[in-house]
Amino acid sequence: MSDAKQTPEDDTSERLRAELEAFEAALPAAADEAGLYELQVRFLGKKGSVTALRKRMGKVPPEQRKALGKAFNEVKQAIEGGLERRRVELESQARERELSRRVDLGFVPERARAGAVHPITATRRALEVIFRRMGFDVLDGPHVEVEDYNFDRLNFEPEHPARDMQDTFFVDPPAGAAASGAGAAAWDPAKSFVLRTHTSPVQVRTMLSHRPPIRIVAPGTVFRRDDDPTHSPMFNQIEGLYVDRGVTMADLKATLYGFVRAFFGPGLMVRLRPSFFPFVEPGAEFDMQCPFCRAPGEGEQPNAGCGLCKHTGWIELGGSGMVHPAVFERCGLDPEVYTGWAFGFGIDRMAMLRYGVPNLKHFFEGDLRVLEQFPC
Ligand code: DAH
Repeated sequence: MSDAKQTPEDDTSERLRAELEAFEAALPAAADEAGLYELQVRFLGKKGSVTALRKRMGKVPPEQRKALGKAFNEVKQAIEGGLERRRVELESQARERELSRRVDLGFVPERARAGAVHPITATRRALEVIFRRMGFDVLDGPHVEVEDYNFDRLNFEPEHPARDMQDTFFVDPPAGAAASGAGAAAWDPAKSFVLRTHTSPVQVRTMLSHRPPIRIVAPGTVFRRDDDPTHSPMFNQIEGLYVDRGVTMADLKATLYGFVRAFFGPGLMVRLRPSFFPFVEPGAEFDMQCPFCRAPGEGEQPNAGCGLCKHTGWIELGGSGMVHPAVFERCGLDPEVYTGWAFGFGIDRMAMLRYGVPNLKHFFEGDLRVLEQFPC
């Protein structure tokens, strides 16, 4: 080094200048805080290039040290100043970007499509709430029912027309079960199955498994082999059963009247009309005054009312009556001790009245144009 042309001072100050140039060339490429930090380390850090040159100070003759020290400080300040300038510049660029960002406040997000409760389900739940409030439990029963519960224990004679293949869906027993008896096995209603034709078998199931007092309703789907504009092979009923000592038909009428008030609103007349069902005696159809036309109803005036009540002023909700002693006996309850009443109403008809839907089939076809009108 001693024989070099340049003195250490010349050499060092020249290299200092070169470092400053290198810094200035690299500075515009620093695009963020990390880039700036990298430059600071590269030039001024512990192992930085400018710091390395500074360590040469010791080898410089004392008279030159002052000038060289000054040069160092100038370069260091230039670098620090450059870093700060660039930092301010980057910050203002970032602020400008932020300010020029456009937020579209008119943006309307697409609504998530939520499902809704089917109108029949909503109706069923409303019925459940009303009967629960009156002290009834809500029970369920199987759709595939033993023939015995669907017919025999409800006092249907073996030759009753409802047992005809025309009316009832009979369910083939599982393979193997039928082959148990050799040849013509004895027909056994306890071992043959139907799709329940009504919710009344839940009465049987309840009486076989519970002691009175019994107060239950059992809503659910039932099945029959008819299919025309006003009948669907699948529809819904709600069964009611009240059994205790001293239950009378007055209790039946009062309960059903209370139900009509709660579901359709006050002021509608109700009536019981004698009718026959094998599992009740006496039996009656239960009608209520048409909630649409509120025609007087009495006397079946031919021109009264509206299309919904077929101009009678009355809407038929279903059957009812006092539980037949034979049914009590077949379900293990003593008819000398207990009395009771039962009813079975169509839920779908009530949903039609509730929502003003004129055709039962609209509920079951699954057409979204219909169902979307019931967002519940
Ligand atoms: N189960 C009958 C049907 O589907 C309706 C019925 C009538 C139910 C009288 C009852 C009743 O509980 O007492 O046609």
